[in-house]
Amino acid sequence: MYYDCINNDHGLKHDPFKALVAPRPIGWIATVSENGVLNLAPYSFFNAVAANPNYVMFSSVDRKDSLKNIENNGEFTCSISTWDTREGMNISSAPVDYLADEFALANLATSPSQFVKPPRVARAPAALECKHWKTVAMPDVEHDGDKGHFLIIGQVIGVFIDDNFIEEGIVNTAAMRPLARMGYMDYGVITPETAFELRRPVVKEDGSVENATGEWDGVYR
Ligand SMILES: Cc1cc2nc3c(=O)[nH]c(=O)nc-3n(C[C@H](O)[C@H](O)[C@H](O)COP(=O)(O)O)c2cc1C
Repeated sequence: MYYDCINNDHGLKHDPFKALVAPRPIGWIATVSENGVLNLAPYSFFNAVAANPNYVMFSSVDRKDSLKNIENNGEFTCSISTWDTREGMNISSAPVDYLADEFALANLATSPSQFVKPPRVARAPAALECKHWKTVAMPDVEHDGDKGHFLIIGQVIGVFIDDNFIEEGIVNTAAMRPLARMGYMDYGVITPETAFELRRPVVKEDGSVENATGEWDGVYR
């Protein structure tokens, strides 16, 4: 099949777009309001977009509470949501009042951050501490003030990693069992059983290509 996204004439039961751009990592964004109320919400239009300096982005449909807080004080954290915290992650997405503390709502303890005011989810195996750089209002949407799609970009200035997930200097991401968002109401989870290594190809003297062997030297080629 093929469909035109402007008219969205896919003819399917539901819009398939998010089911195709999958799996997406989930940024579990914590912010603080002007009067100190904690806010927590998952965003799956989320990703890392640069390393050294490290940048992440997420996008908000309309000006949600996370964006309001970030634009007020310029800080957020992003905790890694995992299989163990899937229920709390889901509850923290409830469309509750601006002044409701979603950490409390989801019964999730906080741990203090080092470089920013918003805390992280204490049970998260890793978290990113971020400073807001820019919000981009995306065009081609019906845009009136607080309506539309907003891309929020932040620089990661501090990283927490639970030492239990560091083995011989390597982070064992799969052991954290991070969640991934797919389409519809579906999720995936990375586990040690589903993770695999694939080395980058190297070009040999005779022009043929084969995957590198031996221990990886830490350079992304
Ligand atoms: C797994 C998951 C991913 C989500 N991703 C997004 C997203 O990318 N953008 C968005 O605007 N809302 C997303 N939502 C919905 C928000 O989490 C929800 O609207 C939440 O109430 C926003 O909270 P806030 O107003 O405190 O920022 C997602 C919800 C879930 C459960």
